[in-house]
Amino acid sequence: MDFGFSEEQLMIQDAARRIAQEKIAPSAEHFDRVGEFPLENIRLLGENGLMGIEVPVEYGGAGMDPIAYVLAIIEIAAADAAHSTIMSVNNSLFCNGILKFGTEAQKQKYVREIAEGKEIAAFALTEPQSGSDATAMRCRAQKQADGSYVINGKKSWITSGTVAKYIVLFAMSDPEKGARGVTAFLIDTTQPGFHRGKSEPKLGIRASATCEIEFTDYVVPVDAVLGAEGQGFKIAMGVLDAGRIGIAAQAIGLSRAAYEASIAYVKERKAFGAPIGTFQMIQAKIADMKCKLDAATLLTLRAAWVKSQDKPFATEASIAKLTASESAMWITHQAVQIHGGMGYSKEMPLERYFRDAKITEIYEGTSEIQRLVIARNETGLR
Ligand code: CAA
Repeated sequence: MDFGFSEEQLMIQDAARRIAQEKIAPSAEHFDRVGEFPLENIRLLGENGLMGIEVPVEYGGAGMDPIAYVLAIIEIAAADAAHSTIMSVNNSLFCNGILKFGTEAQKQKYVREIAEGKEIAAFALTEPQSGSDATAMRCRAQKQADGSYVINGKKSWITSGTVAKYIVLFAMSDPEKGARGVTAFLIDTTQPGFHRGKSEPKLGIRASATCEIEFTDYVVPVDAVLGAEGQGFKIAMGVLDAGRIGIAAQAIGLSRAAYEASIAYVKERKAFGAPIGTFQMIQAKIADMKCKLDAATLLTLRAAWVKSQDKPFATEASIAKLTASESAMWITHQAVQIHGGMGYSKEMPLERYFRDAKITEIYEGTSEIQRLVIARNETGLR
């Protein structure tokens, strides 16, 4: 068992850390307060290979492995979770899906601009009435005689939906067939029939732009179908398996930031004539925070390692996401408590970490869905 990282993995970690500390951390409070999409920072991430970390160099990416991806996301999320959300959608939910299921022409056409961070991508599965129960989608894809499809319907909670150039869309092409009736499509948002709807006012990750999108008689040419007709649900699930490793890494970044701020604070803040870090109740919090942070980190690196071996990794990804997101919620909560009034104040980033952590228990599969996936995979029962 090797707990070391390769030179390449350390290089991308360093690049991410430098940008996170020099550019993202100083602007995170502003972007959170105004809820503005941090386009310039995202372009910078792209210029440094961070928007297509696992994308081969010939398609504009950094050509690195899933462990490098985890290390980079942790660094970005430690500065600002919203930036890491935008990063994870370009990397995992969009590029990863096309690389795995797309044709050579689709890889050439759609991946480069997204992997280079010149354009932004999105992933559209959720609808107003279907979240966890993804096959209950109503968005309809009607096949035409020439092999093209006409899309009608609405998708909601679309991360980067307000700015995305390309979107991987899941729509029902044959409602009779349930999960096997879902097809995946590559959407160019500059084409007629695509509309952006209301933006979601969110508790956290406020710099990541989330909105509804709608399709009215939007025509998808046959060469923009991703995978085969009816394969869409498996594509969505496969892509989400990888995405969940990225969300686990995001939760770790947030947890680390809250933990490190707490370590500094308990050494400096005095009460009853001593630094509060000398009190056993605070020491217990610090110890439990550290145990959860390390456990989440090891489980997430394990999931990334299994993925890098081209072995099935769905269970490991769900374990990592569940553990890391619930730990992030707990750790950021404790960090606010340790900081007392200052934890509750917008003058420090603790309350932002706490608000941002919550989404990691919800998107890319709620904690309840992760438990369902783990238990189903372990027992073989449905
Ligand atoms: N990989 C490949 N195929 C898979 C799979 C996986 N991980 N999981 C299931 N499948 C296949 C099954 O084998 C089955 O195939 P067959 O028909 O050939 O047997 C098919 O998919 C249907 O599977 P299930 O019967 O298990 O489907 P289900 O309706 O019971 O749902 C579920 C399973 C796990 C609950 C799934 O619906 C799920 O993961 N829901 C959560 C959805 C989710 O994560 N949404 C996140 C939205 S995107 C987002 O948040 C992005 C963002 O903004 C950043």
